[in-house]
Amino acid sequence: MAFSDKLEAWYNDYGRTLPWRGIDDPYRIWLSEIILQQTRIEQGRDYWLRFVETFPTVTDLAAATEEQVLRLWQGLGYYSRARNLHAAAQYIMDECGGRFPDTYEGILRLKGVGRYTAAAIASFAYRLPHPVIDGNVYRFISRLRGISTPIATDAAYREFEALLLQLIDRRRPDRFNAALMDFGSLQCRPQPDCAACPFADECEALRTSRVDLLPVKIPKAKPKDRWFYYFNLRWHKEGDQYTLMQRRTGNDIWRGLWEFPLLETDHELNHEELHAAAIAFIEKNFQFSVFNFQLSPPYTHQLTHRTIHARFIQAELPAEPVVLPTFGAAVTRSQMKSVPVPRLIDRYLQTL
Ligand code: ADE
Repeated sequence: MAFSDKLEAWYNDYGRTLPWRGIDDPYRIWLSEIILQQTRIEQGRDYWLRFVETFPTVTDLAAATEEQVLRLWQGLGYYSRARNLHAAAQYIMDECGGRFPDTYEGILRLKGVGRYTAAAIASFAYRLPHPVIDGNVYRFISRLRGISTPIATDAAYREFEALLLQLIDRRRPDRFNAALMDFGSLQCRPQPDCAACPFADECEALRTSRVDLLPVKIPKAKPKDRWFYYFNLRWHKEGDQYTLMQRRTGNDIWRGLWEFPLLETDHELNHEELHAAAIAFIEKNFQFSVFNFQLSPPYTHQLTHRTIHARFIQAELPAEPVVLPTFGAAVTRSQMKSVPVPRLIDRYLQTL
């Protein structure tokens, strides 16, 4: 049986039913693929449903504010995906006459869309024969053919793409790609059940006892540490409670999201250092001498290349501070809970 027939037979029995499958609206498919880039299906499904309900068309998404899009994205992480999504929707409206691009190259030009995502959209929405290649596909194909080229390199991409272009079902590249995705994540898992695999009789890794040696990966660099000390400085005015928050700018993580005034250091502060640094930070930036703090437990937040170690320092200011523009805005308690914030800060807000 041809490779694609065998794969699609497996898919008929075991493939996932997902709300973005079997549709051909490129906008909705694009949304699902951006969400699934760094999010598990179970979590992504709810977000996708909320997005298509709130923004049923690319016109609706383009007309939203970035803040609305970030807010709906909240909790998914990797917020550049949301900013790129919004920018790409506006690009489609302004530069493409409101029509979603219908070629692989055109789709690839959208911000936030790489080769995998472009292949997925091109095949699902337009049945164009571009194979999807991600970690799951590398694992499956490297084992099947006994390929030891280190994966996730340009050389590997070219090699696997050439191979898959020979295997892809040109009548139904959409089904082929969906089957490839599911097979890599459900059947040819890191610890696979080879006894149940329809490709066992032709799998090179199984034949040569290399299932646990493939794929070959280049070791990743160890994440670097950053230490964030956040100041939740509160004061009362006219019966309301206020705190300071700022929107992150610049070329760093969490751009566009809100946070508390931040002291970042290049090492962990011990208790005395933290106390002294906190007093100095508040005196310098807000011209108040404050000596009583409540210190949160340590939080860690893992990003792909960074580990953030955070503490929240809560203190009462004796009066309303003069808010320098660099420190954003005075927000009330309810505003504090409605602006888009990083997951790390959301975790802390939940405890208040
Ligand atoms: N991962 C990325 N895209 C996906 C899709 N469309 N279905 C299942 N898993 C995926």
